[in-house]
Amino acid sequence: MNVKTLHDTALGMVAKGRGILAADESTATIGKRFDAIKVENTEDNRRAYRDMMFTAPGMEQYTSGVIFYEETLFQKSADGTPFPKLLAGKGVIPGIKVDKGARALAGAPGETITEGLDGLRERLTKYKEAGARFAKWRAVITIGEAGIGKDIPSDYCIEANAHALARYAALCQEQDIVPIVEPEVLMDADNTIEVCEDVTAVTLQTVFDELYRQRVVLEGMILKPNMVISGKKCRVQADRKSVAVATLRTLKRYVPASVPGIAFLSGGQSDEDATAHLDEMNKLGGGPWALSFSYGRALQAAAQKAWSGRKENVGAGQRAYLHRAKMNGLAATGQWEQKLEKAA
Ligand code: 13P
Repeated sequence: MNVKTLHDTALGMVAKGRGILAADESTATIGKRFDAIKVENTEDNRRAYRDMMFTAPGMEQYTSGVIFYEETLFQKSADGTPFPKLLAGKGVIPGIKVDKGARALAGAPGETITEGLDGLRERLTKYKEAGARFAKWRAVITIGEAGIGKDIPSDYCIEANAHALARYAALCQEQDIVPIVEPEVLMDADNTIEVCEDVTAVTLQTVFDELYRQRVVLEGMILKPNMVISGKKCRVQADRKSVAVATLRTLKRYVPASVPGIAFLSGGQSDEDATAHLDEMNKLGGGPWALSFSYGRALQAAAQKAWSGRKENVGAGQRAYLHRAKMNGLAATGQWEQKLEKAA
């Protein structure tokens, strides 16, 4: 393990005013996004869609890295350049999602465990050869609905997922690949922001405990957490300032200062909320780590709609991507303003 290489890559992933594009939807998930814009889920449509974002002029100004799905790591741009080479040539760091998805956790109805550890060492070797310098593993922690789901999340689920995250992270670092450690507490239920804060707290505490036990070097990783936010079905929705204050408070309590950066997931927030929350946290002064973004939906939804699978819309799709990337790049330094959205 080369700690300097890991640390330098991690710093590059959260470089000032830039963030990570999570373009690592599995074939099934991108299929759902394509259904919404009536595009057939073929390998070439997936390639063409991602090519559009990767070749958007100036995307590197706001994009520090891209997370690929395995298929994309081995695909090429329209001019024949392999995607990892294309991005690396622009100073954008290629990365790869290496988990195999969340499956039912035995003995814990309604909860999941992320799979994909078997054979991971060999897969990482192959991905590294193809140009990947960082990886991602997403653990999913569900908050149960009031009543029937009151015992969810269980300690068992949080511990099992934290253990897997740490095993993955240690294997990545062994090969100088920076692990993005992503424990996502979902925001889909009817819970208050206070419940989200409690669950996020115990999740982060458990994850960092496992990272410590499994000898993961914190200087060589990036944390990708949820924000502390009201459940989507909660009657009372906390305002933007409250989300920023609660998220910062929780991160400061449980994330060691040696972690170089925190790159949030968007988790189903609206595009503008995801931007505004990040901006507010940075306006409040941030923390000892860089606070940036690693959004999937909140970076791509507008671009997908503008593109809609048509060649003649590639320019419009690229402009939509660049706009959201720029807004989030500004938010990563606390310089976003609502009026910039209207100006677009
Ligand atoms: P969202 O920003 O759409 O939550 O996706 C980020 C991600 O990579 C989830 O694993």
